[in-house]
Amino acid sequence: MDGTNILEFVEISKGFPGVQALDRVSFAVRRGEVHAIVGENGAGKSTLMKIIAGLYQPDGGEIHLDGKPVVLKDAHRALGLGIAMVPQELNLIPEMSVAENILLGMEPHNSLGVVDRNRQLQRAGETLASLGLEGVNLGQRVKGLSVAQQQMLQIARALAFQCNVLIMDEPTASLSEREQIALFERLRMLHEKGTTILYISHRMEEVFDISDRITVLRDGKFVGTLPREEATQDEVVRMMIGSTMADYLHGRSARLEMRRAVLEVRDLGRQGHFHEISFDLHQGEILGFAGLVGAGRTELLGSIFGALPRDTGDVRVNGQPATIHHPADAIKAGLGYVPEERKRLGIFPELSVLTNTTIPFLRKLQRMTVIDRRAERQSGEQLARRLRVQTPSLEQRIVKLSGGNQQKVILSRWLGSGADILILDEPTRGIDINAKAEIHALIAELADEGKSIIMISSEIQELLAICDRILVMRNGAIVSEVSSATATQEDILRLAMFGSEATLQPANPKI
Ligand SMILES: Nc1ncnc2c1ncn2[C@@H]1O[C@H](COP(=O)(O)OP(=O)(O)OP(=O)(O)O)[C@@H](O)[C@H]1O
Ligand SMILES: [Mg+2]
Repeated sequence: MDGTNILEFVEISKGFPGVQALDRVSFAVRRGEVHAIVGENGAGKSTLMKIIAGLYQPDGGEIHLDGKPVVLKDAHRALGLGIAMVPQELNLIPEMSVAENILLGMEPHNSLGVVDRNRQLQRAGETLASLGLEGVNLGQRVKGLSVAQQQMLQIARALAFQCNVLIMDEPTASLSEREQIALFERLRMLHEKGTTILYISHRMEEVFDISDRITVLRDGKFVGTLPREEATQDEVVRMMIGSTMADYLHGRSARLEMRRAVLEVRDLGRQGHFHEISFDLHQGEILGFAGLVGAGRTELLGSIFGALPRDTGDVRVNGQPATIHHPADAIKAGLGYVPEERKRLGIFPELSVLTNTTIPFLRKLQRMTVIDRRAERQSGEQLARRLRVQTPSLEQRIVKLSGGNQQKVILSRWLGSGADILILDEPTRGIDINAKAEIHALIAELADEGKSIIMISSEIQELLAICDRILVMRNGAIVSEVSSATATQEDILRLAMFGSEATLQPANPKI
């Protein structure tokens, strides 16, 4: 770092119909620094990054690169100037192979101008290895990979390109701790080589771990830039929300022994995914599932809902045997499910926010055979307000909302559906810290009303804060049950990594 600015934003503005996403934003990024950009959902972070990556044109203002004004008229131009981005919404091509995706648009050519397959494979392999992903098969199609693997691949794609400025828009949102560690090691190497990194994350620990300086945006406006050493988390959060934060919940008391079991799972198994899974969920309970990515949590809970297959085992709902082969069976039995892969399984991108909210319970709103539009609108409005969904109107197509706000809509859908048993897979991923606290409060409220909730999260802290009990999975099996009142983050991580609390030496001494 030589203290000069590589990038300067001068009065950048960008509006969309009904929203001023960026309002005269000015600040500078120094050469070689890791510069974090934080702000609530909808603050304008992704919009600003898309402008630097050439995907959006600003309505006003200038961008200076190395002291000179530049026009980044498209992504190609931005790449040509050494600016690469890992977008918040994955944009891999599912039908193409891992290697093809990594080098998309920069395929090595031989002297005849034909794509050089050998060099392509070699370079893709090197890039993956540098992220600790040697295990991924280069010829495999991307659609068969897990979300976390796809996320790592997306990162690999940006790294394969030798850039001066690397933009990462929530790269860790779907990564487990282990992958995050690999990513951070790689980022530190790039940092040492002098790459400038713009880093967006809702995870404060991460931001404080990695960044040199932190810029806060609020409602499309620049609030301030702080050097990391001089900043505290409280201060940054205050700047983000402009007031003090809603209280984080702290450890619910385990007071559920007497309650009846609403869901009894016995000996569930699926070859190669999970085996001999048995547990009970009690009425009013919040049951957490911890584990590393690949531990089998998503596959297990998806199979309980009938969205994914299983080979063996029985499920009882409210004491009655339940035959669930399909999500429709599960919904009839009173289950609701917020999947992890919301983009593929969760949203109807071209439909309105309102329809996306009310779709699963339209039947409830049906009087005779006509949908009661007024009731639909009322419940939509109520839910949107409860979760503070930021949208110019309920008619807005959901794809136009910021990433975090899309999540809130999907979540609100199931909160309004009347399901008594809710299965939430990473429900707060990508949701800002304040909205997250609100969602936590809401989940607790639902449990207090008598609903029963199963929740997967890669954030152990979150599980400890809101769950009554936590089951830890490793390699497809439940290795332990812990009470959130007594367990620590370290206990759970150790169980998830090693399956026992034995003090093996962790690979990374930091954890
Ligand atoms: N293509 C678009 N069309 C219409 N509105 C948009 C579009 N892109 C962004 N917006 C709006 O601009 C505002 C800023 O969105 P942006 O995606 O930049 O937020 P963000 O800070 O990245 O939020 P998050 O943390 O949820 O990802 C939001 O109100 C969003 O709805
Ligand atoms: Mg965003």
